[in-house]
Amino acid sequence: MISHPDAGKSTLTEALALHARAITSAGAVHAKGDRRGVTSDWMELERERGISVTSAALQFGYRGHVMNLVDTPGHADFSEDTYRVLAAVDCAIMLVDAAKGLEEQTRKLFAVCRHRGVPVITFINKWDRRGRDALTLLEDIETHLGITPVPVVWPVGNAGNLRGLVEAGNTEQMLRYTKVPAGTHAALEEQLSSEQAAEQEGETWTTALEELELMLSSGPGYDQEAFEAGKISPVFFGSALTNIGVKLLLDAVVDLAPAPGPRPLAKGGSREVGEEFSGLVFKIQANMDPAHRDRIAFVRVCSGVFERGMHVTRAASGRSFATKYAHTVFGAERTVVDTAYPGDVVGLINASALRVGDTLFTGKKTEFPPLPAFAPEYFAVARPTDISRSKQFRKGVAQLDEEGVIQVLVSDRRGDQAPVMAAVGPMQFDVVLHRMEHEFSSPIALDQLSYRVARITDADGAAALAKARLINGEVLTRRSDDVLLALFADKWQLNAFQRAQPDILLQPLIATA
Ligand code: G4P
Repeated sequence: MISHPDAGKSTLTEALALHARAITSAGAVHAKGDRRGVTSDWMELERERGISVTSAALQFGYRGHVMNLVDTPGHADFSEDTYRVLAAVDCAIMLVDAAKGLEEQTRKLFAVCRHRGVPVITFINKWDRRGRDALTLLEDIETHLGITPVPVVWPVGNAGNLRGLVEAGNTEQMLRYTKVPAGTHAALEEQLSSEQAAEQEGETWTTALEELELMLSSGPGYDQEAFEAGKISPVFFGSALTNIGVKLLLDAVVDLAPAPGPRPLAKGGSREVGEEFSGLVFKIQANMDPAHRDRIAFVRVCSGVFERGMHVTRAASGRSFATKYAHTVFGAERTVVDTAYPGDVVGLINASALRVGDTLFTGKKTEFPPLPAFAPEYFAVARPTDISRSKQFRKGVAQLDEEGVIQVLVSDRRGDQAPVMAAVGPMQFDVVLHRMEHEFSSPIALDQLSYRVARITDADGAAALAKARLINGEVLTRRSDDVLLALFADKWQLNAFQRAQPDILLQPLIATA
């Protein structure tokens, strides 16, 4: 689920789990074998409101399918980590606040989905309160994101005056809901025939039909292939807080979202889901539980069956290890997992050799392409405020780099005693300050640098930069993967330099904006 903070991600997560559970407990569907139904119950979720910070994957069964809802950490640590989570998913739900429209982080996360070819379902939330006009919201999506929104559900009534919903595929009936407070139980759904809707809702009903008709006649209509290719985004309206439109969204995830499929390999070809086990490490989190100070590597199963205790090989080193401690993790809750299938997320505890982006496999050697590194826009020099703790300082910096909390750059001029921290969002610096002090006992100071643009360059570029002496301070840095990055104050300075030296390599990293 991707969104800007406050759009309602936690609320919608809870609502989806609630709906799925309602079905499960009614006996309609049970998760397979020893696999879990709804992972956390309502109270647990409610208590764990901070789920964005520590959660990894919520698994639930619905209509004979198993869904893994992977969280993208929202607020405090908007970072590379957030983007990398998107490497683990088959589909994304883009949550838009009806009053605020498209917000910055939503756009950035959308850009990553586009880059990775992840299909996107749109849910326009908070329709129970005043907001923008539906047509304008969709126009914005089309103009600013360059994807065609195709309504699957349309609101009856403006934002703030939600009377019900109508499905594009069935305009003969209106769905009316009884509002219920978030999470108590699923909203009661009542079906009105179009005659009843016209009689009871009058113009509101006819306007909804006209708007829907306008959208459908002016656009391409829903097409599964176009959705999976990222050309169109099916759109839903509703209110997570009052459980309206949530079930339709959940049904759409089952009906429209692609199931795990073959995954391209670094050297060409692909790994089919039916082959032996393979998995991708997409996130490493250390010290999730202060009492244990352990480290969890989150692995998305890509093919085959994962069985706890099995020996898997880490592609990068060729070494094999036993997966003794495997858990599913949601919030503070951990459960031992014995078996996991493609699409599932497993947390491997204390597998300290693992790095973000690693491929694990059994059988035929398999390696997935490296995870992309995103374009940092904020830079700061880190220095320990207590120099007697330089060992802890180095350890902490290396750990945060490994986890992808921050990119660590070493400039020729400053050396590794004063690494440059590069972030995609300024909040990442707060996380670094906090963790260095509290986890690694090495308080640090961060001196912000005035660069805003980074470009990949090579040895020739490095020489040219050294000669140009563009600005005070360093402009050339080396990332831990040995990639050379040239830093510029702004696009204008970059362009001027490139014009003067057209042959020099200055390649953009993946843009997120
Ligand atoms: P996030 O995880 O995306 O950051 O958002 P979260 O679910 O925490 O929701 C942010 C705020 O928006 C919360 O209000 C939540 O109740 C509200 N909200 C979510 N969905 C809806 C909706 O459909 N309609 C309306 N009207 N509000 C919604 P808060 O006041 O910040 O927190 P709380 O005191 O309600 O917990």
